Amino acid sequence: MCGIVGYVGERNAAPIIVEGLKCLEYRGYDSFGLAVADGTATDGGGKLTVVKKQGRISDAGSDVSLACGNIGIGHTRWATHGVPSDVNAHPHTDCTGDIAVVHNGIIENYAELKKTLIAEGHVFKSETDTEVIAHLLEKFRNAAAEKGLSGIEKVDFAVKNLMDTLEGSFALLILIRGFNGLIAIKRFSPLVLGIGDDELFASSDMTPILEHTQKILFLEDNDYAYLMPDGIRLFGYPSAKTVERDVKTVDWDVESAKKGGYEYFMEKEIFEQPAVFVNSFRQKIDDGAVSVLKKASSITVVACGSSYHAGLIFRYLMEKYCKIPVRVEIASEFLNFTTAKGTVVIAVTQSGETADTLAALRHAKANGCPVFAVTNVLGSSVTRIADYVLYTRAGPEISVAATKSFIAQCAVLLRIVSIIGKGIFEKELFEIYPVLEETLLFDPADASAVCKDAENIFYVGRGVYYPISLEGALKMKEITYIHAEGCAAGELKHGPFSLLTPKTPVVAVCTKDDAYPVMISNIKEMKARGAPVIAIGSGGDADLKEIADIFIPLPRSKNICEVISATIILQMIAYNTAVLLGRDVDKPRNLAKSVTVI
Ligand code: M6R
Repeated sequence: MCGIVGYVGERNAAPIIVEGLKCLEYRGYDSFGLAVADGTATDGGGKLTVVKKQGRISDAGSDVSLACGNIGIGHTRWATHGVPSDVNAHPHTDCTGDIAVVHNGIIENYAELKKTLIAEGHVFKSETDTEVIAHLLEKFRNAAAEKGLSGIEKVDFAVKNLMDTLEGSFALLILIRGFNGLIAIKRFSPLVLGIGDDELFASSDMTPILEHTQKILFLEDNDYAYLMPDGIRLFGYPSAKTVERDVKTVDWDVESAKKGGYEYFMEKEIFEQPAVFVNSFRQKIDDGAVSVLKKASSITVVACGSSYHAGLIFRYLMEKYCKIPVRVEIASEFLNFTTAKGTVVIAVTQSGETADTLAALRHAKANGCPVFAVTNVLGSSVTRIADYVLYTRAGPEISVAATKSFIAQCAVLLRIVSIIGKGIFEKELFEIYPVLEETLLFDPADASAVCKDAENIFYVGRGVYYPISLEGALKMKEITYIHAEGCAAGELKHGPFSLLTPKTPVVAVCTKDDAYPVMISNIKEMKARGAPVIAIGSGGDADLKEIADIFIPLPRSKNICEVISATIILQMIAYNTAVLLGRDVDKPRNLAKSVTVI
């Protein structure tokens, strides 16, 4: 996730872009950049200035004063391809320096495109996926010129061909030297336009725009627009025909706009999960990494908190479907143990900075194990220790409670299972998006009403739903301050049963998988001790509905998709309960997002 912003008007663009990027820093902040054009020039003339640097836009200082002109684009980055650095910062330019591009999203076919463009003589400066866009535009503009096209027809030709060629998600803002305007393109990444008095704005969300105008135009996927001093020209792809979109008057303040209208970042992050899962699962894993994983005699995962739970989920699936032994260790305990040579060790860490996880990975490396990292932060400390790095595509997570980063970890780890398991789950998980969208329609009010008055809550499940129960309990205790405990359903009768009363709700995850019959018996045993049962189960399960006090049906889907849906339901119950209790949801007491001390 990155933030992009654009301006066309009579004012100097640079200060407006800089202030806009500050509003978007929550979307990423490892580097920034802007390009400003002098819009008075005609085709072939004018000046285009690019300023870009590693670091935060708030530290930009006088660097941007060089950029003068009344058309501009800017970017604040959360690195996905290429470490944070001056050269990888956006905007990216073509060989001539006449085209500047800022991008939010992922170009899935960039590696093939880059290879072809290099063979055709284009010279690349960065490691990013975005740079191919600038070079493709250069190529298509040259092709248009050869056909005798000029002015707007040349731009039309280049944009149409660009959209034909790119695969993946992208919100783009493009400046072309001598083109008196800016080009905005949207496909599967957010982009809105703002309409002011004699000036136009473009941005990843409306936060940078609201201080200038409340008139917002929401682009749809495959829309592209030319923002010109005399107005917006808006088209649909592939028809290239003019399209009409409503202009809405938005009276949000900047803070609620940053949260996309959600009350807390946690809620926003929960709702981002369908796209986060798909983006994280669909990525290609490096052949070298795959071959090391395929040869592993055993795998050990080291992690903390939610990342540890993602590791446990991996264990259940890897052992069951790939028959590879997997150990999962809490990172802070790992130094007590030995690891056999030949074991592949995987550190799972959102931040890439958790001190215990880093220490565990160093320990494994010192023992001669090949070490992997699954992390959300490009260039983080763990990436410098690991031999192989697999990235989750969650974007920055602001809320202390891990939600979308956890789902992204599950996606990447499931990808490994799928690769080692010769394509198992691939089809189901490639098509999971609508299932997760449907999951988000769940109303947690009834379940939260029960949970909010409890002093203790149990979460139970069997098989892969045991770690999911641990994660559900962690989410609940972390943000509501209610004591919540995750248990393997079969373990309850070995002790915790003595705690069950009508005042201790049990959240049971019980889908129609192999463990279903025995889970039903376990739930009946809990009911017999008077505990109210909130059961999350497969859609249409009349038996479970009959037994449970509250039955939450999952969208009808394959078993593996239910694993992800059930996790989201547990997040929503915890979130809603915390809101009912008036907790500071995004910043729970005594906790930090990244734990960099041992
Ligand atoms: O950045 P990491 O994934 O290494 O962080 C590990 C834990 O601190 C983290 O998952 C923590 O448990 C979450 N706040 C839970 O929601």
